[in-house]
Amino acid sequence: AKPVTIHSLQKLYSDKVPITMLTAHNYPSALIAQEAGMDMILVGDSLAMVSLGMADTSEVTLDEMIVHAKAVARAANRSFTVGDLPMGSYEISPKQALASAIRMIKEGRMQSVKLEGGEEMAATIHKITSSGIPLVGHVGLTPQRQHALGGFRVQGNTVAKAMSLLKDAQAVQDAGAFCVVLECVPQDIAEEVTNALKIPTIGIGAGNKTSGQVLVQIDMLGTRPPESFMPKFVKRFSDEYTSSLNGIRRYKEEVTSRAYPAPEHNYKSDQRVTDALRA
Ligand code: KIV
Ligand code: NA
Repeated sequence: AKPVTIHSLQKLYSDKVPITMLTAHNYPSALIAQEAGMDMILVGDSLAMVSLGMADTSEVTLDEMIVHAKAVARAANRSFTVGDLPMGSYEISPKQALASAIRMIKEGRMQSVKLEGGEEMAATIHKITSSGIPLVGHVGLTPQRQHALGGFRVQGNTVAKAMSLLKDAQAVQDAGAFCVVLECVPQDIAEEVTNALKIPTIGIGAGNKTSGQVLVQIDMLGTRPPESFMPKFVKRFSDEYTSSLNGIRRYKEEVTSRAYPAPEHNYKSDQRVTDALRA
């Protein structure tokens, strides 16, 4: 398969073929996402919570994001890569944001960056995109602002909020973003926003009328314990937790019973060496 580019993504959009995006936080998870045919791979700051065990995404730094982005970039030579700018790395000024975006490209080896926010980030988005860095917007539920939003909750639920969501998405588009993530938005509203835009919308918890979908790989594979909190929109397409747990338990059993390592795992010594040691 040929590498995915801005142009091939645009072609999917104009052909109305849903764009597939998935997060990856390290080398093996990026390899598998690409092998499964993901158009885009996002090194999301969900990394903070699902891979690093932090309480929320505000804790992860740009330096940490870059370490993980680099690992993903080593695997992703076909999927189009997006590096999330973490909280604190782009809000101060368009100049600060551009400096962070450049680091994500040069050091993180990503092909594009993503940041959260609407109209208020338009000047920042314009600064980055006019410097030649492709950018993915992110409106609706913006987890980096969870404390201002009053937690993780559905967005755009009143006339005023739906109107400002639409304005935000349009501002992000007009500032030069090549696509925009719509998170936690009722399906009908996400559909209206999608119809009003000229760039693809990538939904997460936004119904199936958006131009594409994104999920957090660790959530959709069921990698965490079944009792861990999961938003309503997540579907577990696999049960990696049970599968891994069973594998590690079998390892434990076989080590304690000395069934493992078996003869086929062992290196043979030269009999003369063994004899010499025993003498
Ligand atoms: O951080 C992340 O994984 C994201 C996606 C859920 C869109 O921003
Ligand atoms: Na994110």
